[in-house]
Amino acid sequence: MTEPKPTAEHSTAFPDGFPGGRALFRLDPAVAHLNHGSFGAVPVPVQEVQAELRAQAHADPDAFFLAVPDRLAQARTRIAAHLGADPEGIAFVSNATEGANLALHAVTLADGDEILVTDHGYGTVTAAAARRATVTTVALDPLLPDEDAVRETVLAALTPRTKVAVLDHISSPTARLVASPRLLADLAARGVTTVVDGAHAPGMLADPLAGGADFWFGNLHKWGYAPPGSGILAVAPQHRHRVRALVPSWEDERGFPHSLEYRATVDYTGWLAAPEGLDLLHRLDAAKVRTHNAALAAHGASLLAEIPGLTPLPYTEGLAMRALRLPPGTAETRQEAVDLREELAARLRTRVLIWPRAGGGGIRLCGQIYNRPGEYERFAAALPAFLG
Ligand SMILES: Cc1ncc(COP(=O)(O)O)c(C=O)c1O
Repeated sequence: MTEPKPTAEHSTAFPDGFPGGRALFRLDPAVAHLNHGSFGAVPVPVQEVQAELRAQAHADPDAFFLAVPDRLAQARTRIAAHLGADPEGIAFVSNATEGANLALHAVTLADGDEILVTDHGYGTVTAAAARRATVTTVALDPLLPDEDAVRETVLAALTPRTKVAVLDHISSPTARLVASPRLLADLAARGVTTVVDGAHAPGMLADPLAGGADFWFGNLHKWGYAPPGSGILAVAPQHRHRVRALVPSWEDERGFPHSLEYRATVDYTGWLAAPEGLDLLHRLDAAKVRTHNAALAAHGASLLAEIPGLTPLPYTEGLAMRALRLPPGTAETRQEAVDLREELAARLRTRVLIWPRAGGGGIRLCGQIYNRPGEYERFAAALPAFLG
C-alpha cells in the first residue's frame, strides 16, 4: 500500500522513514504500532543473539548456568558504559515494577513517615509505595506549563512526614519530564529520599542517570531495544548495603548487585542479550534515532491536535512520546479507556495508549524507527469517528 502524501502544512515537520528501520523488526505489517512506550519491540539482531544464548543453555546446561554470574557481570559492565554508570552501582532487575519494589524495601522509614507520589505515576510503582507506607498523592494538572510548575507543585505538597518521593523520570500517560535535576536537588536539600521511575529513560534520554537520585530504576526493554524482562536498578553508594533481593539465592551474601541478579535457575538470556540492544542503538546513531523518533511523535501529535475536542498537552522537547487530552465523555474510566484502546486496535489496526481521567481521558502516541508518517496520518483521519 502506498502512503498518502502529507499535506503542505505538515511537510517540513517530520522525517521520512528511518533508513532500514522497519526491516530491523518482525512486526505485524497489518498493524500500526504507535505504542512503543508500553512494551517496546525487540530488533531481529537482538532476537538472534538471545536465540543463540538459549541454544547454548539447552546444549550444555551445566556449563551455561555455572558461568552465569561471570557473564552477568560482563553484561552489566557493558550496560553501565552505555548508561554512564558505575558497574557496581547498578543491578539487573526484571523490570521497572521490580526495581520499584526493591528500592522501596530499602528506604528507611519510621512509623508515621509518608511517601509522596504523583497522579501521573505508574500503577504498579504506586502500589509498591502503598505497600510500604502511607502515600500522599500530588495531583499534577496535565496542563502545567513546564518543569518549574511541576517542581513547585511537588515541593508545595511536602509535609514534615514526607520522607520519600517516588517520581517519574518521564511520565507514562503524559509523556513529560517530572523528576528534573532541579527538583531532585531540592528534595535532597529537604532530606527527602528520591526514588525515580526511569522506565522510559534508557535509550530515550542521552544521559538517563544524570539527575543523581537516591534510587533510580529503568527498563532496557522499552527504548533500549533489549528483550522483555530487562530492567536496571541504580542505587547511590550510601544505600546499597540496604538493598536486599526479594528472594535470597546462593549469591545473597555477596550483596548488591550480585545478590539481586542471581535468581537460581531462570532464563538469563534476556539480560545477557540486553547489551546488544544498546549497542545497536549506538550503531544506528542514538542521537539520530532520538531526533527521528521525537519528530515522528510530534508529527502525530500535531495531526491529532487538529481534531475538534483534542487538546495537546505541554511536552518535554526531544521525547519520543506525546500526549493529548480527549474530549469530556471519552475514556473517563479505566474500563472506557480499555474499550476505546481495543476498539481502535480492532477497527483501525492501530495500537496506542489510552489513559483514563475524569473529565476526559488521554491518548499517547510514540515514534520509533519502524514507524512512518503515513501511519499517523491514516490514524488521525479515522480517529474522530471513535470519539464521544
Ligand atoms: C513510567 C512507567 N513506570 C513503570 C512501568 C512498568 O514497567 P514494567 O512493566 O516493565 O515493570 C511502565 C510501563 O509502561 C511505565 O511506563
